[in-house]
Amino acid sequence: MHDFHYVGNKLFCEGVAVETLTKKFGTPLYVYSQNTVTDHFQKLDAALGPLDHLICFAMKANSNLSVMRVLAKLGSGFDVVSAGELQRVIAAGGDPKLCVFAGVAKSESEIEFALRKGIYSFNVESEPEITRINKVAARLKKIAPIAVRVNPNIEAHTHAKITTGTYENKFGIAFENIEGVYARAAKLKNIKLRGIQMHIGSQLTQTSPYELAVTKVLPLVKKLAAKYKLEFFSPGGGLGIVYNPALASGSSAWWKTEAAKGIMTPATYAEKLLPLLQPLGLKILIEPGRFIVGNAGVLVTQVEYVKRTGKKNFVIVDAAMNDLIRPAFYDAYHEIVPLTKKAGATIPSDVVGGICESGDYFCKDRPLAKVGEGDQLALLSAGAYGFVMSSNYNARPFAAEVLVSGKQAAAARERQKVEKIWEDEKIVSWLK
Ligand code: LLP
Repeated sequence: MHDFHYVGNKLFCEGVAVETLTKKFGTPLYVYSQNTVTDHFQKLDAALGPLDHLICFAMKANSNLSVMRVLAKLGSGFDVVSAGELQRVIAAGGDPKLCVFAGVAKSESEIEFALRKGIYSFNVESEPEITRINKVAARLKKIAPIAVRVNPNIEAHTHAKITTGTYENKFGIAFENIEGVYARAAKLKNIKLRGIQMHIGSQLTQTSPYELAVTKVLPLVKKLAAKYKLEFFSPGGGLGIVYNPALASGSSAWWKTEAAKGIMTPATYAEKLLPLLQPLGLKILIEPGRFIVGNAGVLVTQVEYVKRTGKKNFVIVDAAMNDLIRPAFYDAYHEIVPLTKKAGATIPSDVVGGICESGDYFCKDRPLAKVGEGDQLALLSAGAYGFVMSSNYNARPFAAEVLVSGKQAAAARERQKVEKIWEDEKIVSWLK
């Protein structure tokens, strides 16, 4: 479901016409629907209802403080991957005791910060990391709760850059080595073995890789849980969303239609996984990012020029790969719709940004309604891995972000002032 829809020929986010937002806040502009975030969280929460569970939102997908506050208020925990993200949790009003700390490169100072804040679990990715966590905990006279991330060596059939559960990837500890690692970790004085975790990849649209991976690790989880009195098991995040309307229904209840086409929904995820997870009797954590926020955000951009070459119709817009890198980086599909729908024929178009790289495009040869200078377009499904992956490349300021709830809308981030880009830079002394 998502709460972007047309009223007449105007695109609305919930009860607000998106063009009123661009008038007030300018473009490029990220617009988020609070209702959509809430709805996705609650649907997942309800699907996992029969389990003792905790959703730890993978905030790497969208770490805007207002978006995080919405989730914190719903009782969400957070999956963090840096001390910076944990500081954001605190700034947003989230609870570090409901947070897990993932990532392969945790530094001593990050471990110390997380321990002091009372993190629920470190999801560890290597044995040297366990040694380091034990050392830091000993120095602080604390006991550090950990879960080892097991790499089940299961192919998740997703984009090469976001698959994580095979031995080709840098993540987790090989399935075969896990028992030995727990046995050694159990001997460390300042370590508490709290759980076991895995994450096989992102943008998974089928339940089958989860079923395969969970089925593979279940006997191990049972054994370790009994031996070390583990509290939780986490099958990770990775639940995919529909980006391409050729697959989706376009209706607001897309997952009902998608269920018919075999694309994973909270209900089908629960239907397949609950029977595997429930008998464990453990607390179940999951770490979805994209599923909760992906379809809750759009990036709105304005057409600067339309340029026709012998071959192509280039729609040159004021957003670029620095604002939304997913098409350039993963060849990702984002639906592109006008803020004001016009009748008339479509024309194969390349929507491109102004950055001096050929990779700076949002789509290629896509049939789009004809647009002209000043028209505005929305790139859909940009709520996850959108703003968070933006950069200041070409000295382009970060876009503004707006949160909408019903008929209310407010800046969740002001547009960056251009001088801020070089605020921390210096002309070195010998050049003055
Ligand atoms: N847990 C772990 C350990 C992860 O590494 C990730 C994502 C998640 C949870 C959340 O995955 P999600 O539910 O959002 O799929 N920038 C890429 C996606 C990178 C995902 C990184 N890890 C994109 O734009 O597609």
